[in-house]
Amino acid sequence: MNPMNETIHNQLSHRTIREFKDQKIPEEVFRQLIEVARRTATSTGMQASSVIRVTDQNIKNQIAEICHQEYVAKAPELLIFLVDQYRNYRIAGEKNFMAENARDMDRFFSAFTDACVMAQNLVNAAESLGLGTVYLGSILNESQRLCELLKLPELTFPVIGLGVGYPDQNLQLKPRMDMRLRVFENAYTVFDSYLDEISEYDEDMRTYYDLRETNQRTDSFSDQVVGRFKQSILKRRDILNSIRRQGFDLGVKE
Ligand SMILES: Cc1cc2nc3c(=O)[nH]c(=O)nc-3n(C[C@H](O)[C@H](O)[C@H](O)COP(=O)(O)O)c2cc1C
Repeated sequence: MNPMNETIHNQLSHRTIREFKDQKIPEEVFRQLIEVARRTATSTGMQASSVIRVTDQNIKNQIAEICHQEYVAKAPELLIFLVDQYRNYRIAGEKNFMAENARDMDRFFSAFTDACVMAQNLVNAAESLGLGTVYLGSILNESQRLCELLKLPELTFPVIGLGVGYPDQNLQLKPRMDMRLRVFENAYTVFDSYLDEISEYDEDMRTYYDLRETNQRTDSFSDQVVGRFKQSILKRRDILNSIRRQGFDLGVKE
């Protein structure tokens, strides 16, 4: 029996979309996506994540600047997913309990995972409706500036951005490495030579970039890995300090 169904077909068709039609997402469709976000699993039921829907073009432009990616300003919907321990801290406070352990690293990471899971659930729903999405880890290029721009109170922190809209490009699927390199049974598997293991995949990646219309990169995966490790965005080194400035106790010294 082939276990393929429409949901899995959509998930296997995933590609990141960076060019969107100049077409608004109908409000009832957007509301449905938010309902899916609401229904997402959440650590200990605490719902310690939130989303900011950015509709102000001026704020969108500034986020695009932070991301160093122009297409961010053009995304019909721009969502910023947050760690949010502030709301529950306030709820406890109003019940006369000063929940200082809302600042714990453990709670930060629970909320961080909640935000990621919620974002991906929304992505699956969006793609099932023919919408395209782009995750924006680049919002953390200047995390402090983003916190100020979005007026984030203490005990909140941006996790990931997401652009959503109707796709205006049709890209081929981006190849992935064989899952035998990423899925192990019972214990981690270490390989003798990783370059040998990924040699075919390296080749696939060259072909992928060759065929891509907009960007003629021909880097193999292994060259991309080295290229990425060579990059170090200075301001991103400040992320931990920025988390601390938002009131979390990560044991970080500035
Ligand atoms: C956590 C995360 C952060 C990402 N950040 C960005 C980003 O800042 N800008 C961007 O254009 N794409 C971003 N992406 C999209 C990836 O580049 C993309 O998923 C990857 O190249 C694989 O391509 P595909 O999604 O089309 O298969 C991000 C994806 C993830 C999961």
